[in-house]
Amino acid sequence: MHEDVEKILISAEAIERRLCELAAQITADYSGRELTVLALLNGSFLLLADLLRKIPLPLQLDCLSVSSYHGSTASSGTITFRQRPLPDLSGRHVLVLDDILDTGLTLRSVLEKLRETPSIQSLRTCVLLQKNIPRPDGIRADYVGFEIGNEFVVGYGLDYKEKYRNLPYIGVLKPSAV
Ligand code: IMP
Ligand code: MG
Repeated sequence: MHEDVEKILISAEAIERRLCELAAQITADYSGRELTVLALLNGSFLLLADLLRKIPLPLQLDCLSVSSYHGSTASSGTITFRQRPLPDLSGRHVLVLDDILDTGLTLRSVLEKLRETPSIQSLRTCVLLQKNIPRPDGIRADYVGFEIGNEFVVGYGLDYKEKYRNLPYIGVLKPSAV
């Protein structure tokens, strides 16, 4: 375990097992349709790699670079689209992939933007983690790896000040590390 980590919340093995279940569900739901995965980077990079290898469907991949945190442990309240233009998603079945649903600001903003695209066939969301907190508009992801409490976590793509993304598990930092 990393010296800055106080406890492991979700082990690498538990993530692996849960991704198999999620992938099976997504594969069944999208069978016969051409799936387009839109991954929100950087946080979803491990989820993207591990989940997509378990989905034996023809699919396309696009990535979008967005950020809502600026080096702290609280959402900044606005998100920045770092890449333009959006990929052309007309006529596609789009599954947006993100690391975590926290305040919901990121997914809400991305979904709003995507809904401006005429003739998207379908739009769903998948997150590894969903924080169990009330959200003003009740936004939830369609596919959720794990529900967690309202605590700040790192690892498996998630960072604190751009560190810890490469940890193979989801952990909570020691107070001395934040
Ligand atoms: P939201 O827009 O508030 O839902 O936050 C989404 C983004 O904030 C995620 O994609 C993460 O990059 C970041 N984030 C939210 N909660 C955490 C956390 O507990 N640890 C690390 N990053 C987080
Ligand atoms: Mg992120």
